[in-house]
Amino acid sequence: EVSIAVFASGSGSNFEVLVEKSREQAWPQEIALLVCDKPGAGVLERAERLGVPAYVFAPAQYPDKAAYEQDVLQLLRKYDVEWIVLAGYMRLIGPTLLEQYPWRILNIHPSLLPAFQGKDAIQRALEYGVRWTGVTVHFVDEGMDTGPIIEQKPVLVEPGDTLESLQKKVHFVEHHMYPAVIRKLLTGQLIPPRDR
Ligand code: GAR
Repeated sequence: EVSIAVFASGSGSNFEVLVEKSREQAWPQEIALLVCDKPGAGVLERAERLGVPAYVFAPAQYPDKAAYEQDVLQLLRKYDVEWIVLAGYMRLIGPTLLEQYPWRILNIHPSLLPAFQGKDAIQRALEYGVRWTGVTVHFVDEGMDTGPIIEQKPVLVEPGDTLESLQKKVHFVEHHMYPAVIRKLLTGQLIPPRDR
């Protein structure tokens, strides 16, 4: 039975809602494992609580990205992983994984891409003074927060917003949007270009 792997580096709020929704809505594929590249990341506690097997890798201990991703790939094969879902995974995906998962790796980013690619996107949007920011879900390619866009939703930046208040609004949108997009892909309501 094919499955989904979530990759995360941080607190894991998106990971948690994905697991919850996938169970509530009985997705045709289950989130079989978490891949984490940050020992001690908050997402690991969530995985434990939710009963999702978590695998921690320390990329610095590999000679290069290819060697690291080869190890990850072996693990994904064990679980018959079909989809890779990045949820705050703060690392570029290399050719090793990209070639094995064409149109099968998704990312969520807290801005209206191509604005504010990379780290601290919410803070940089606030500092820039944009009136609207938002959330983007896209297919992953070799770039940083590039790759074909699947869906975007706007978030209004209001006078008096702080990093905390804006983060809260962005996360709220993410937590609704990501499970909905993934479900559509799994159920064929949304068809990736390679399958059209
Ligand atoms: C999310 O806001 C996600 O969009 C962002 O990291 C956060 C992870 O939060 N991803 C990126 O910035 C990717 N460039 P979480 O750990 O609570 O799910």
